[in-house]
Amino acid sequence: MTQEKTTISFEGEEVELPLVVGSEDEKGLDISKLRSQSGLVTYDPGYANTGACQSSITFIDGEEGILRYRGYPIEELAEKSSFLEICWLLIYGELPNAEALSQFHENVMQHTMLHENFRSFFSSLPKDAHPMPVTAATVGALSTFYQEKETERSIQETTTRLIAKFPTIAAWAYKHSIGQPFIYPSNEMDYSSNFLHMMFATPCEDYEVNPAVSQALDLLLILHADHEQNCSTSTVRLVGSSQANLYASISAGISALWGRLHGGANQKVIEMLDAIAKRGETAQEFVARAKNRDNPARLMGFGHRVYKNYDPRAKVLKSACTKVVKSLGLSSKQLEIAMELEEIALRDEFFIERKLFPNVDFYSGVIYKAMGIPVNMFTVMFAMGRMPGWISQWQEMRRDPSFRIGRPRQIYTGPTKRSYTPIESR
Ligand code: ACO
Repeated sequence: MTQEKTTISFEGEEVELPLVVGSEDEKGLDISKLRSQSGLVTYDPGYANTGACQSSITFIDGEEGILRYRGYPIEELAEKSSFLEICWLLIYGELPNAEALSQFHENVMQHTMLHENFRSFFSSLPKDAHPMPVTAATVGALSTFYQEKETERSIQETTTRLIAKFPTIAAWAYKHSIGQPFIYPSNEMDYSSNFLHMMFATPCEDYEVNPAVSQALDLLLILHADHEQNCSTSTVRLVGSSQANLYASISAGISALWGRLHGGANQKVIEMLDAIAKRGETAQEFVARAKNRDNPARLMGFGHRVYKNYDPRAKVLKSACTKVVKSLGLSSKQLEIAMELEEIALRDEFFIERKLFPNVDFYSGVIYKAMGIPVNMFTVMFAMGRMPGWISQWQEMRRDPSFRIGRPRQIYTGPTKRSYTPIESR
């Protein structure tokens, strides 16, 4: 990594700041000595200009619409890879050879079962609980079952357990919410088919996994696997920086993902599409409402903090969506409305000026709906895909030689010093 310097001046003093240059020529000011040299801190609401770490996992160029995992373009991985291979790539940095991949697959599929006590854990939660807090609580609770001291080896075991058990946790959260018996994992199946089996089989009826649906699910998981320092990943890193364990850190990441401006957006997209259909509104009328600053409506699934171009994941999903809907012999009103909205918005000056394009969530909800995944499970599906990203980012943070607890500063705007007033005088 090349090092250059830049200088800022403050109150007549010059402060020299090194320039950090990434492998894609991304430049950042290293301000780690700024406060000690000048007394200044930086102020950056929403961290929109702040690089919180150096990372070799995922590269995004939001202006160009580029996303790469460990250097491999997302389009190529989406076409040729599998979710478990992506897990390996993100966590270990390279593509596995055939033997390593098959061993990893076997290892993951041998850890899919949950401790039997989790049956009563799930049963003690309200039936109408949203599956996101249920999965966050369950992942946190895993640490009560696996209390071993943290070592390199135990981190690898935790990694396998989290990837293996999350589909079981997700499917059981769903089964609990609809009052159906939990279905145990079936280890001879592939990762995505096993999840669909646990979601949709019942003890009275076998469920035949449709290969088109299982392939589409694998693709969705690949597309969600990592996205550098987004809100939930930054949460995982921040919580882990206190040396909290991987289960606790990922449980916090799941909670961060729940919000509607992050992982919750795909659910909001479907609700928006359904509401448009219900009101009999035209796509044109809705887009006009979404542009109106006095109207709270937003075109959900459009816009992104980083992408100022078409989100490459949305492009892959748009064509996958059309294929799945067709292969299942469905006609999707939601897909029709989504495509109409997209066409109108992409030609509209408001969206062009603000560089608002479809993001990954614009089509993911439509495809999940076609696959039979209930709307309140959409964000849980996102969490399942993001698991290897969270784990690899957490591991990278822990091994970083410049590792320090995450502890931002602030600009204090409260009252200046004043004396305590006794209660009888207030
Ligand atoms: N519909 C209508 N207007 C929008 C939209 C939208 N979807 N997104 C942004 N805008 C407008 C804003 O009102 C603002 O307009 P102004 O300049 O007139 O005030 C301008 O575009 C900039 O928007 P910000 O909210 O400041 O952009 P920011 O980068 O902070 O937010 C975000 C990005 C949260 C994703 C935003 O675009 C949004 O709310 N989109 C809809 C929700 C969504 O799809 N979230 C999923 C993101 S992807 C993910 O998390 C996996």
